[in-house]
Amino acid sequence: MTKARIVVATRLPVAVVERIGRDFDAIIPDHDLDGETALQDVIARQAEGLLVSGKTKLTAEVIGQAPDHLKIVATCSVGFDHIDVAAARRRGLVVTNTPDVLTDCTADMAFLLILAASRRAAEYEQTMRKGWRQAFGMGEFLGLSVSGKTLGILGMGRIGQAVARRARGFGMTILYSNRHRLPADLEQGAEYCADFDAMLPRCDILSVHAPASAETDGIINARTLALLPRGAVFVNTARGKLVDEEALIAALQNGQLFAAGLDVFRDEPQFDLRFATLPNVFLCPHMGSATVETRNAMGFRALDNIAAVCAGKPPIDPLWR
Ligand code: DGY
Repeated sequence: MTKARIVVATRLPVAVVERIGRDFDAIIPDHDLDGETALQDVIARQAEGLLVSGKTKLTAEVIGQAPDHLKIVATCSVGFDHIDVAAARRRGLVVTNTPDVLTDCTADMAFLLILAASRRAAEYEQTMRKGWRQAFGMGEFLGLSVSGKTLGILGMGRIGQAVARRARGFGMTILYSNRHRLPADLEQGAEYCADFDAMLPRCDILSVHAPASAETDGIINARTLALLPRGAVFVNTARGKLVDEEALIAALQNGQLFAAGLDVFRDEPQFDLRFATLPNVFLCPHMGSATVETRNAMGFRALDNIAAVCAGKPPIDPLWR
């Protein structure tokens, strides 16, 4: 049987590369391709499928060059803000993502950030690496307890719900803001707040799980941060675009926020280096889905989508039907 010809625009885990070698006709890149280069490769190789990650931006201009033989763009991510979806739809392309397989992993990361920010993990680690040597008094260098606190969740999709499940284990009260109220079996006792602004003053900790969109761009800003109780903790494993970073830095400097845990930034990997100078921020380089198990599962899911479409079958995870 002829193998489907695909272009791989992103570096992938070994197990995923091995499967590509077995099941597809592809060249494996040693660096991530930009959108323009990926499309040129699709044309040059007469490829039916294109596998990308968030690092390959597919603008309307790039998608406009897509040849008729390209059937599917599969992104190895749940987020798809790097793809001009409207342009892809107009062009008649199938676009798929990788939902579900990274839900638990990303929720684990959100909880890691909640704990690390609240319990001053970055500062403690620094202290140890500098040699410690001076004992702390009972009232010195204290963090904030997480157990029993009130957690606000913006965006109660799969990942928001998985964060809520973890929070229940910490005896937390859970509030959520979402476009729609969830059915009771998914709410599991979390309180729906139809008004995001009204939820904020009640949150000891705010964790955001909404996609990047025109609606959510800068939703965490000077005004909304000021609505949180003084000394709240903010955590972002979603997208940097949700945040006005000037306002976040100011809130971390002036004590409006006790701390933040950040896995995502407006400009990646060129994140604002001022964050690295703030002691009360726990920083990660966009690693929410970065475990062996999850990254393999994401790669396999993207390949399953490509294999289905190249075989004339419906995709598993289409962005629209
Ligand atoms: C996603 O899948 O969107 C995550 O941010 C990992 O890139």
